[in-house]
Amino acid sequence: IDIKTLRAATGGITTLDPGYKNTGSCESAITFLDGEKGILRYRGYSIEELADKADFLEVAYLLIFGELPTKGQLEKFHNDIKAQSHVDEDVKKILDGFPKSAHPMGVLSSLTSALVAFNPSSVNVDSEEEMYNAIVKVLAKFPVLTAWAYRKRAGLPLDYGDNSLGYVENFHKMMFNRPNGNYSVDEKVTNALDKLLILHADHEQNCSTSTVRIVGSSHAGLFVSLSAGINALWGPLHGGANQAVVEMLEAIKEDGGDTHKFMEKAKDKEDPFRLMGFGHRVYKNFDPRAKIIKKAADEVLSSLGIEDPVLDIAKGLEKEALEDSYFVDRKLYPNVDFYSGIIYRALGIPVEMFTPMFALGRLPGWIAQWREMRLRKEPIGRPRQVYIGETHRDFKSIEKR
Ligand code: ACO
Repeated sequence: IDIKTLRAATGGITTLDPGYKNTGSCESAITFLDGEKGILRYRGYSIEELADKADFLEVAYLLIFGELPTKGQLEKFHNDIKAQSHVDEDVKKILDGFPKSAHPMGVLSSLTSALVAFNPSSVNVDSEEEMYNAIVKVLAKFPVLTAWAYRKRAGLPLDYGDNSLGYVENFHKMMFNRPNGNYSVDEKVTNALDKLLILHADHEQNCSTSTVRIVGSSHAGLFVSLSAGINALWGPLHGGANQAVVEMLEAIKEDGGDTHKFMEKAKDKEDPFRLMGFGHRVYKNFDPRAKIIKKAADEVLSSLGIEDPVLDIAKGLEKEALEDSYFVDRKLYPNVDFYSGIIYRALGIPVEMFTPMFALGRLPGWIAQWREMRLRKEPIGRPRQVYIGETHRDFKSIEKR
């Protein structure tokens, strides 16, 4: 049914659906998910297969342009990205203006917005070529900004990366290269990071992606639409959950490791505490990404020879939740972020960088969704409301109130 027929049929009735639990905001050919069966596919390819066989840049290409790239297409894409990886020196001055304690998500959203000033041609992008140029620019500069946000906080000199490396390897080096330069890329670490980024790369119309689409629908540019998405992702009910999970697991450890006590706390309706990393708006069976990540966490920790008591607490919570009627009845299963923080920790990534890592992973998805929205010439996003305020009141002068 087309929208005009629908409007005519409903006589302009406004539906009320808080949290958009049943409202589709668009048609999309990017990501398919079946929450009941625990299926997630990017452009028709299963997440399990992509995480196993593809690399992050290939998946980015697939999401954005709809097909897996040929060798030549991937090489060109990567070369175009490399050619744009410089960040204007003046952006560094903006970074310098932030206190060292600033949360990197705030720094990232600000710097991503600021990129517009240095790349004004990225705003009015009507042709596919103009879109491509803006896309390549932001894919190139965003990892640099992410690494810089970390290095600033860690008091390290900024690193400009090494374009002879792969996309993820280069990011890893920008993060961890130290002034003495004795950094070597560890393949196991890069592979784990690559997999994590793939698992986060898109998830249809979640809060941050819907934000990117709705901001972009006013024809604001790509960079500011992405900046809005970064801010939406920051919240603990969305991307901020990975930071909140590890903080929660550490708090349980500090408290003596009694997982049952925290389970009870999460079930208490008088207590605002929720078991972070549990539950999902769409997955009501299991989150397929959590399965892959749980296995990866085991592999990474054992291959790096790390024993992390927090992983045992996480496994204990999961086991207990699977047997607890509160969690079973509400279909609350571990989500993607339940185990991702444990891997990030093992890779030496500090907790406040977990959500920026999510943003880096989600970047291709946001871009793909923004591009689809523009190519489909979608109308400006403008939800209606059901008004519940006063009907009409006469104005009272200030003396009479
Ligand atoms: N701990 C305890 N109870 C929970 C939890 C939780 N983590 N999540 C949901 N519930 C309960 C709610 O209290 C509610 O109970 P009720 O029916 O008795 O009132 C019921 O389960 C349904 O919860 P809603 O909040 O209505 O579910 P919604 O789909 O709106 O929220 C969300 C999903 C935000 C993910 C929620 O499960 C949550 O807050 N989880 C913890 C935060 C988290 O891990 N976020 C990451 C999401 S994944 C991502 O962004 C990558």
